[in-house]
Amino acid sequence: MVIRRIKFTGSSPSLKLCPSEDFPEYAFTGRSNVGKSSLINMLCQRKSLARISSTPGKTQLINHFLINDEWYLADLPGYGYAKTGKKKIGEFEKLVIDYILYRENLMSLFLLIDARHPDLDNDKKFMDFLGVHGIPFVIVFTKADKLSSNQVKKSKDLFLRNTLQRWETSPDIFLTSARNRLGREEVLDFIERTNLMFKKR
Ligand code: GTP
Ligand code: MG
Repeated sequence: MVIRRIKFTGSSPSLKLCPSEDFPEYAFTGRSNVGKSSLINMLCQRKSLARISSTPGKTQLINHFLINDEWYLADLPGYGYAKTGKKKIGEFEKLVIDYILYRENLMSLFLLIDARHPDLDNDKKFMDFLGVHGIPFVIVFTKADKLSSNQVKKSKDLFLRNTLQRWETSPDIFLTSARNRLGREEVLDFIERTNLMFKKR
């Protein structure tokens, strides 16, 4: 897919205030600091479309980008970061959970997992939540440039082993790096194919 046009359509503090559900949508989520904003910038080939934080937990609203006037990309707040205080975390969770459960045009969620840490409890919990609610999602391993190909394989194997202890099949896994653009074509091809299945309600 060639990205011709990108329009930032706003930051939403609640599901109600998100843009209308006229286009297929893909949301990026995962642990804070996993590389969501960096991946979005890499996919869109823009240096600072989604803000990249040096302090985890910086993206606290749902940011929407309309791509090629055809589909939405949504940058969700990260989870599992404690420093902003208990009350704030509850608010992130409500915003993200409302969005995941009730966003009608959501075609697939991209659950980002740091390729170096495929075994974290909060990622497993989040995955199980998606499974229980039947939310379509794929896994995106991030920061693959930080590992050798052998380490990547070990990480993937560990992830699959863990998943298959709890699940009958594993979701698809994309291997990516925002630094060297690994996985860009694969992710965009997946979106292009999935767009064909969108039906306006
Ligand atoms: P929050 O919005 O705070 O939840 O974080 P985020 O998930 O959007 O992460 P962000 O993109 O801000 O990246 C966090 C840190 O990881 C930054 O210092 C990035 O430069 C770094 N980073 C992200 N992706 C990659 C990657 O593919 N390779 C390497 N080496 N570093 C990365
Ligand atoms: Mg971010």
